[in-house]
Amino acid sequence: MDINSIFENNREWVAQKLAVDPTYFSSLSKGQNPSILYIGCSDSRVTAEELMGVGPGDVFVHRNIANMVSNIDLSSMSVITYAVKFLEVQHVVVCGHYYCGGVKAAMDSTDLGILNPWLRNIRDVYRIHKTELQSITDENERYKRLVELNVQEQCINVLKTADVQLAYKKRGLTVHGWVFDINSGKLIDLNIDFEKVLKGIMEIYTID
Ligand code: CO
Repeated sequence: MDINSIFENNREWVAQKLAVDPTYFSSLSKGQNPSILYIGCSDSRVTAEELMGVGPGDVFVHRNIANMVSNIDLSSMSVITYAVKFLEVQHVVVCGHYYCGGVKAAMDSTDLGILNPWLRNIRDVYRIHKTELQSITDENERYKRLVELNVQEQCINVLKTADVQLAYKKRGLTVHGWVFDINSGKLIDLNIDFEKVLKGIMEIYTID
């Protein structure tokens, strides 16, 4: 990819949008009112808006390596607070993906420097679900399952935050766990039963 072609692409994109609606950008500049917060992986193959078929203004997006939600990560915590408390999104989505390099790296013992503490959160997911994961003999299937369980645990981390709990009680905010399959292009809803999950964690993590 030629870096200079980016500006050419941008000029074409602006022209295309304006051809359909001359007020497109001036309308966008008035503000945003997205109904979804999407938390996904930074992987270049998992293009949030494109795979969901949405455009500017539709989704508030946060991406990091392996779609993690860590309570000591100021960035993801700020994004969640802003989206839930101020933008009042109706849905929070954590979207993982098969073939995730971050999840793969957490399954290996390679020293990755500053990435070690970040990926250690995924190793914690592995530890929590060790019995299930170790019963899967096919390594590729175990890798896929860890991707799914990581999404589930990050959704739980979303639910542990005070703003999300408040919005859940007050206005029925919902949390969703999805996986994007790069090999087929399909988006899969893990259909996590959050009522059940919540019952299990609320006695420990509830914030009134
Ligand atoms: Co990834």
